[in-house]
Amino acid sequence: QVVAKRHTPRSLALLDAPVVSLTAYTAPMAKLMDPHCDLLLVGDSLGMVVYGMDSTLAVTTEMMIAHGQAVVRGSQKACVAIDLPFGSYQKSPQQAFETAAEVMARTGAGCVKLEGGIEMAETIQFLTQRGIPVIGHIGLKPQAVHAHGGFRMLGRGTEAEQIMADAKAVADAGAFAVVIESTLEPVARAITEALPIITIGIGASPACGGQVLVGEDMLGLFTDFTPRFVKRFGNLAAEVDRAVADYAAAVRSRQFPGPEQCVGLVKKD
Ligand code: KIV
Ligand code: NA
Repeated sequence: QVVAKRHTPRSLALLDAPVVSLTAYTAPMAKLMDPHCDLLLVGDSLGMVVYGMDSTLAVTTEMMIAHGQAVVRGSQKACVAIDLPFGSYQKSPQQAFETAAEVMARTGAGCVKLEGGIEMAETIQFLTQRGIPVIGHIGLKPQAVHAHGGFRMLGRGTEAEQIMADAKAVADAGAFAVVIESTLEPVARAITEALPIITIGIGASPACGGQVLVGEDMLGLFTDFTPRFVKRFGNLAAEVDRAVADYAAAVRSRQFPGPEQCVGLVKKD
């Protein structure tokens, strides 16, 4: 059996088509997504999507490692990126290196992602010079949701120059890619045209060099809140509701388990 070689940051950079990426948090979902995706991102959005938190701030490195291990086990072909969670890298380049090295060593992921622009450039350089491929994350940074004043579109007025400067700092620091979140099209376009690294958009227009969505959002499985930039390619919430309702009805009416699911059934008459 020929096992497909896994994408690396380097092979992603050589793709001549848009980078296809989704978030994945579990092995079975990673297994389903892997054949179709170039990059699987174990996002700290799992705090909201999987754990029901109302922001990503309480996500821990241990949670990221546990889910990162699951996604690496469940995938063969996609490059796996793991988010560094809030508080695990902002203090110093040394703190970031320790967290990133532990995440890489314990999961087998190909790279890490961290939020921040100019203020994180020194840290990104510290990691990339020590062999850790880094994806930056600019525009809307969910770990800075309180500073942003909520989840909103960025890129108007002076924000445009700020985000462009952040992109440039992240690229100069050696990141091989950057996620641009919730940012107006002209800004995302200008960044993509100006910089040699891969831009991966989420709510940042088709101008980006790749796209990422939260898997549960695009599958219609996480429906608490749907930003305008999400397109639902499926309606799994409705399918789960139907299946669970059918199961409940079958148990209550004693139709399940039926003879096929029953071992050692003694037939009457
Ligand atoms: O945590 C996450 O899911 C992310 C992506 C949306 C880029 O950072
Ligand atoms: Na994230």
